[in-house]
Amino acid sequence: MQQPTATDDLRRLESLLDFYLDSGVDCFLDEEALDWPAQSALQARARQEAPVPAQPAVGGGHAGQVPPAARTPEVASGPASRSFPAQERSAPSAPTPPAQGQPAVIPDREVIAAARDLAATAATLEDLKAGLESFDGCNLKLTAKKLVFADGNPSARVMLIGEAPGRDEDLQGKPFVGRSGQLLDRMLNAIGHDRSSTYIANVVPWRPPGNRTPTPQETEICRPFITRQIELVNPDVLVFLGAASAKTLLGVQDGIRKMRGRWMTYSGAGRDIAAIATYHPAYLLRSPLEKRLSWRDFLAIRQRLDSSN
Ligand code: URA
Repeated sequence: MQQPTATDDLRRLESLLDFYLDSGVDCFLDEEALDWPAQSALQARARQEAPVPAQPAVGGGHAGQVPPAARTPEVASGPASRSFPAQERSAPSAPTPPAQGQPAVIPDREVIAAARDLAATAATLEDLKAGLESFDGCNLKLTAKKLVFADGNPSARVMLIGEAPGRDEDLQGKPFVGRSGQLLDRMLNAIGHDRSSTYIANVVPWRPPGNRTPTPQETEICRPFITRQIELVNPDVLVFLGAASAKTLLGVQDGIRKMRGRWMTYSGAGRDIAAIATYHPAYLLRSPLEKRLSWRDFLAIRQRLDSSN
C-alpha cells in the first residue's frame, strides 16, 4: 500500500478544517470551553420565543427583546441594558425567507439602528462608554472579559484606531497593551508622543474569541460607536492601524500596502479630518523590515501635527 504523502496529509487537514467551518465552528482556541450545542439550543429557543416587532423598535425598550429565561446569563445584565435576539455567530449568510404568513425579522438591521440611536444620544465619552456597557446587541460581549473602550487623552490632537482588542487588551480593558501595543508605544515615543498626547481606540471594543477577525455584522453593529467616539474626540489627525479600520471608516478598498502613507480625508465628524493608514504593529512584529515604511508614516504624522499647530 502506498504511504500518504505530505500533500495528502495537507489535503486531509484542509478538508477537516472545511468540515469544521461548515459545521459553524469559527473559533478553535479560546481561554474557556464553550458549550456550543447549548448555545445553539438557547439561540434557537430565543428566536422562536421572541415576539416579532411590528416596527423596528429603537429607544428605551426593544420589541424583539429575548425573554430573560431564554437569554444566557451574561446577556441579562439589568434593566438599563438593551437586549436583542441572540445573533448567529457564523459568517453572514443570505437572509432566510420568512415562512408564509410570518412577518420578516431582521435582527441585524434593528440592532444596528439601535446602536446608531444609542451612540447618537451620547453627549460625552463617558455617556458613550456607559451606553456600550449597557448595549447587548453584539454577540462578542458574551465571550469578552472586558469592554475595551479607549486609552490616552480625550483632548489629544491625534487619534489612533485599531481593529479589535486581543487577549491582553481583553484582560486589562485597555487597547494596545500587549506586544503590539508596546511596539506602538515605542513608535509614538520616536516622534515625541505617548499616551498622554494621543487617544487610542478600536473599531470593535470587544475581543473576538480566539482573536478571529470580527464578522461584517459585528463591525457594522459597532461602527456607530466608533464614529461617535471620533466625533466626541474631534482630533486633527486620524491614524488607522492596519487596513481593517481604514476600510471600515474610510470606505476604501485598497490593501494596506497601497493605502499606507497616503493622506486621505475622513468626513463624518461634522468636519473633514486628515487621515492616514499605516501598518498594524502586530504585522510589524512579524515583518520587522517593514518598520522603515512605518517610520516614514510616523514622521509624516509628526510633520502634519507640527504644521497645523
Ligand atoms: N490589535 C488591535 O487592533 N487592537 C488592540 O487593541 C490590540 C491589538
